[in-house]
Formats: sequence, structure tokens, C-alpha cells
Amino acid sequence: MKRILIIEDELEMLRNLTTILRLEKFRPLSAENGRAGVDLARRAAADWGKVVDNDILLPILILHDVDKPLMYVRESPDKVGYSQLARELQHGVVGAMLLKDLGLPHIVVSTVATHAGNSPFHGRNFEAYVLHYADYFATDHAIMLEGDDKEPYYQKHWK
Ligand SMILES: [Fe+2]
Repeated sequence: MKRILIIEDELEMLRNLTTILRLEKFRPLSAENGRAGVDLARRAAADWGKVVDNDILLPILILHDVDKPLMYVRESPDKVGYSQLARELQHGVVGAMLLKDLGLPHIVVSTVATHAGNSPFHGRNFEAYVLHYADYFATDHAIMLEGDDKEPYYQKHWK
């Protein structure tokens, strides 16, 4: 079954495309971070009165892992390892440097720089919280779509 990545910000359109592609025997993957983040932000606004700035949240949700292709190298056909850059700078920091060069707002740059789970500290803005939970949900979402025999990321911490 071939995978197809769908990037669509209209939820209804995303659902329709996903359904159609599944019927056509594709395995559609959505940009789940964005979808989960928007869902969480709406829930936080309704339940807690916390309103996020979408001009900050959406670039963070879409771009927080922009440096990942630079952080890994293919060592063999079935093995991926860390790049030299990943041994020198933490994931997120490299992405933040790229986003700063592109002129994104400081809050986007600083949130991306500190979003990684192993960052010594994390952003204190509400958009950073939304990213954190959306990122973990999206990880488990992708794993769960792989099949019933896959174990959620949450459980992998305890082995
Ligand atoms: Fe990340």
C-alpha cells in the first residue's frame, strides 16, 4: 500500500481526501501536528479561555521539525544515523536558525529552538504548550496508523 502525504488546512477537505485515498487503496498521511494543534487550540479556547495567535501557532506547528532532514544521514539501505550536525547542535536549534534567517518572528524562532523533548527548557508561551501535546499526539497517531501491532510512542519510554 503506497503512502501519500496530504497537507490541507480545511478539516472537511482533509477528511474527504483521506477517505477517497483510502478507498483507492492508498495509505494517506496528514500533517497531523497541524490538525491536532488546531484541535487542541480550539479546545483550550473553549475550556480555558486561552486564545492562541494563529499567526504564531501555525508556523510553529508546520515548521518545528524543519531541520530533521539535516539531522540524520542514511548509513545503509536499512539504517539511519545522526549527522555530524546533529552531534554539534540540538534538534530544533538548527531549525530555529533557518527560520530566523527567513525572518520569522522571534517567538516562532524561540519556540522551535526549545521544542525538542531533550531541550534544557521549553517556551512558556501557550503556543509552545499546544505544539508539545500536538507533537506527541501526532507521533502516536502515525504509529497507530501503521497497524494494530504497533506500540504507541508513550509506551516505548518504559522499556
Ligand atoms: Fe521535533
